[in-house]
Amino acid sequence: NWNMKNFIADQIELVKKQVGNKKVLLALSGGVDSSVVAALLLKAIGDQLYCVHVNHGLLRKGEPEQVIEVFEKQMKANLIYVDATERFLGKLENVADPEQKRKIIGAEFIRVFEEEARKLEGIDFLGQGTIYPDIVESGTKTAKMVKSHHNVGGLPEDLQFTLVEPLRQLFKDEVRACGVELGLPESMVYRQPFPGPGLGVRCLGAITRDRLEAVRESDAILREEFHNAGLEGKVWQYFTLVPDFKSVGVKDDARCFEYPVIIRAVNTIDAMTATIEQLEWPLLLKITDRILKEVKGVNRVCYDLSPKPTATIEWE
Ligand code: XMP
Repeated sequence: NWNMKNFIADQIELVKKQVGNKKVLLALSGGVDSSVVAALLLKAIGDQLYCVHVNHGLLRKGEPEQVIEVFEKQMKANLIYVDATERFLGKLENVADPEQKRKIIGAEFIRVFEEEARKLEGIDFLGQGTIYPDIVESGTKTAKMVKSHHNVGGLPEDLQFTLVEPLRQLFKDEVRACGVELGLPESMVYRQPFPGPGLGVRCLGAITRDRLEAVRESDAILREEFHNAGLEGKVWQYFTLVPDFKSVGVKDDARCFEYPVIIRAVNTIDAMTATIEQLEWPLLLKITDRILKEVKGVNRVCYDLSPKPTATIEWE
């Protein structure tokens, strides 16, 4: 009979049979699917697995640290951590168009990964966190759309690997259950969806370091307060963003001209439509107060009340 323990045991055997004594490369973003597949492959083939974590400089506060802590320190995986922040921010300088930003981030991601793949010799397999909704024709439009965001051509001809995809039969909730069974922290397995281009599409227009910092810090405050309020896992997606305009304010009796932070919190079934989460005023005021006190260069906090349609979940 089917249960998660048996599923994991079966997949471990299948992966061992498929891979033999060869090596497997895996792009480990720290998202649910790649984390769960990493944990499963580790159980199956241990140090024949090479995980590459590319930090594009657009991750949330604490994310690369968590990947290193869980996979390198706790699970003893071969983890190659690449801090490519400068490279990505350099390529993105003065690029304001959202689709252009996405293309640059996706293409650069492939390039960095490819460079790491070339450094490691004798790799035959590529691990992937492909899940059932990614492969079925009738899959949700969300899965297709999200996939298309990453669709930037892929690896070059001479770097074609055989895929290892042990999660391809699972739905998202099963992937999470699998992750828990494999001992991954709940904060990793039950985390909210996070777009591939990361904070890059929440730092609106041409990315600047000051605004990127403001997005990262305000997002960390928002997540912490959601955690304290017991809202983690109850609201589908919640984040902050920083637009590329300033407004007049007053700080320490002097006029200031600084950025606003916008709060977004939505619920949805399939990401095609969404309703706003009606946050309690005390929570909103607490978050606002903290952002205004703790985040540099910010003098105003706004709460986005727009459903999808007419607004999308992200702002760009
Ligand atoms: P929108 O903004 O279109 O977002 O209402 C719907 C869902 O998709 C996520 N999203 C992305 N995910 N790469 C991703 O992997 C992207 O470029 C991207 N853009 C939006 C968004 O966070 C929401 O969950």
